Amino acid sequence: MPTSLQDTTTLHNGVKMPWFGLGVFKVEEGDEVIQSVKAAIANGYKSIDTAAAYQNEEGVGQAIKESGIAREDLFVTSKVWNADQGYDSTIEAFETSLNKLGLEYLDLYLIHWPVEGKYKDTWKAMEKLYKDGRIKAIGVSNFHVHHLEDLLQDAEIKPMVNQVEFHPHLAQKELRDFCKKQDIQLEAWSPLKQGQLLEDPVINEIAEKHSKSAAQVILRWDLQSGVVTIPKSAKEHRIKSNADIFDFELSAEDMEKIDGLNKDERVGPDPDNFDF
Ligand SMILES: NC(=O)c1ccc[n+]([C@@H]2O[C@H](COP(=O)([O-])OP(=O)(O)OC[C@H]3O[C@@H](n4cnc5c(N)ncnc54)[C@H](OP(=O)(O)O)[C@@H]3O)[C@@H](O)[C@H]2O)c1
Repeated sequence: MPTSLQDTTTLHNGVKMPWFGLGVFKVEEGDEVIQSVKAAIANGYKSIDTAAAYQNEEGVGQAIKESGIAREDLFVTSKVWNADQGYDSTIEAFETSLNKLGLEYLDLYLIHWPVEGKYKDTWKAMEKLYKDGRIKAIGVSNFHVHHLEDLLQDAEIKPMVNQVEFHPHLAQKELRDFCKKQDIQLEAWSPLKQGQLLEDPVINEIAEKHSKSAAQVILRWDLQSGVVTIPKSAKEHRIKSNADIFDFELSAEDMEKIDGLNKDERVGPDPDNFDF
């Protein structure tokens, strides 16, 4: 069980990935993203999750530079957007992301969505970039079990990570079991259901018992479930408090109560039915 914000899980290729990080979806390019990422790094975060589609990679890169942290002490994730999928265009998109970030390598690069008919060629490009040492780990996002099974039929390298929507209303039991068996690390996006879980009475009752906030209880549940988590906030006090989850433990009973909230309900699109 992770005991600090710097603790890592070891991916199947030996790369160490922090259990906890900052997500920057919908954080504006420029001042907002620069301040958020700098606040996170100043408060001990080591992992930042962006994507070409978020259109804030330049700001993320600038914040990293300005924060003065050593590159090897950070774990930076980006993702190839749907319109760029395919072999050559993925290689190009990767170079563009890296340039915008002003980095020499990425720690993790993900296929953002399983675009039908394209994701296998995209994966070949990811494998090439990985073998060339341009990325420390490669993975996918929004892949259901059937997408993973399909990809694994042809993949030379197994994805190290699958980043999916995951929170107490969407517990993804089948996918979690599959990924665990395959040694693919599950990572939660929208861990707070974009704020929609913070009033839940069961979570608040548990939070009160531990003198913690609802957000802290949910994020702790992620870690105790073996899921990497990357909550987004653009506010320093929340960036700080979201990460303050290493000084308490949810009991087996707390965990069961939170598990019991599942209703297979998404806040984002279903990867079997998206039109972008
Ligand atoms: N791979 C994908 O397809 C995909 C899709 C979606 C997201 N993601 C990644 O996952 C990250 C997290 O997901 P998300 O941004 O969708 O949602 P989230 O982390 O579940 O929730 C973020 C929302 O909750 C608010 N919030 C954060 N901490 C809070 C707290 N302690 N108390 C009250 N409100 C709080 C934030 O507002 P403030 O900023 O005002 O604090 C923001 O509105 C993203 O930033 C992105 O990096 C990936």
